[in-house]
Amino acid sequence: MISNIVTMGGVKSLKDIDVTGKRVLIRVDFNVPMDAQFNISDDSRIRAALPTINYCIDHNACSITLVSHLGRPKGGYDERYTLRHIQKRLERLLQKKVEFIDDFEASKEEIASCSLERVFLLENIRFYAGEKKNDPEFCKQLAELCDVYVNDAFGTSHRKDASTYGIADFVETKVAGFLMMREIEAFTKALEKPIRPIALVVGGSKISSKITLLTSVMQKIDKLLIGGAMSNTFLQALGYEMKASLVEVDYVDVAKKVLEEAKANNVKVYLPVDVVITDSIENPIDVRVTPVQDVLEGFHAVDIGPATLKLFSEAIELSNTIIWNGPMGIYEISQFSKGTYKLATVIAESYAYSIVGGGDTADAVERAGEKEKFSFISTGGGASLELLEGKVLPGFEKLDRN
Ligand code: ADP
Ligand code: 3PG
Ligand code: MG
Repeated sequence: MISNIVTMGGVKSLKDIDVTGKRVLIRVDFNVPMDAQFNISDDSRIRAALPTINYCIDHNACSITLVSHLGRPKGGYDERYTLRHIQKRLERLLQKKVEFIDDFEASKEEIASCSLERVFLLENIRFYAGEKKNDPEFCKQLAELCDVYVNDAFGTSHRKDASTYGIADFVETKVAGFLMMREIEAFTKALEKPIRPIALVVGGSKISSKITLLTSVMQKIDKLLIGGAMSNTFLQALGYEMKASLVEVDYVDVAKKVLEEAKANNVKVYLPVDVVITDSIENPIDVRVTPVQDVLEGFHAVDIGPATLKLFSEAIELSNTIIWNGPMGIYEISQFSKGTYKLATVIAESYAYSIVGGGDTADAVERAGEKEKFSFISTGGGASLELLEGKVLPGFEKLDRN
């Protein structure tokens, strides 16, 4: 059976068409993290869109209109989410003037006219009600701005919004940008044509949000390493008492089933043998390492311990492909971040093909300073999870096919 990932890879990309003299609209994902003063704390997503934008400039597209969302505004203009916050950074990275369009409906004629070499950046597309509703009339209005639609917003490709999905019904030529293609290639290499053994490392806060992933990849992987709060539920399922730790009690039976499925599919499962526990997450006074069978009353397991790191390291060093989704602990708090950061280093130093999906995991790898040594870090959080789950991402669905 041809997998959905391979099917998505069959879409036409920018290199298959001629953009010379064309008005190109590119849906990008500039939904970048910012601090309270609106400083961009990680511009990876902007950088990741540059090859597509530069290609259009270099191939003499007559105008380029960039469309993105930022955050989740609730109805209309909201100062916190204006894309003006990223205009300067984009200009610096492109080394080119970027014209900001407050309201594309008011500036429609200017954008739609062929004005050689101009780059427009539209205001946050989620300020318009039609975007999230995928309203056909709104899709049509956006479509009228261009001759060619390029979707390069991988991070938003799991959304059926007007600018990621519906617009394609109203544009004759619609293709994927280079980032979309890179993401698909990376996941194809990891999941469809892997060099075995292949290890899936999962963690993060909830088993419930990743259960589809666990069941859908079971037939494709050789090893399953489970850490983070996720592993608490598995450990509870094995009879350990996790005390005040985050455990999804409703999922204890599900965890048992996953372990049975793993066994049936010959997948080796690695669970923590020791954990870092704390008396309090907000105000930790007593933090210590303990075997999983000795979690103290009232304590929370918040990271994997050193023996677990050793166990996981050995499993990783003997793998040739590693897919990582979900931190090993509450990595945002430095006392509980060691397991995640050290694991990042172990994966980075391995010779395996290593791929990271998941917004927090990508952030943790960046903070660990190991980003450059990974084979691929996805720009998608939810999108990469859905891709790993084997779903067809709407952002690819309506694009032209080869
Ligand atoms: P990703 O965004 O990479 O998919 P998730 O969103 O699933 O990852 O999980 C990340 C979150 O999981 C982080 O906020 C982290 O603090 C939390 N987490 C990890 N381990 C634990 C734990 N033991 N207890 C509570 N929260 C945890
Ligand atoms: C993301 O950050 O995951 C994407 O930009 C999608 O954002 P959304 O979850 O608000 O649709
Ligand atoms: Mg997350």
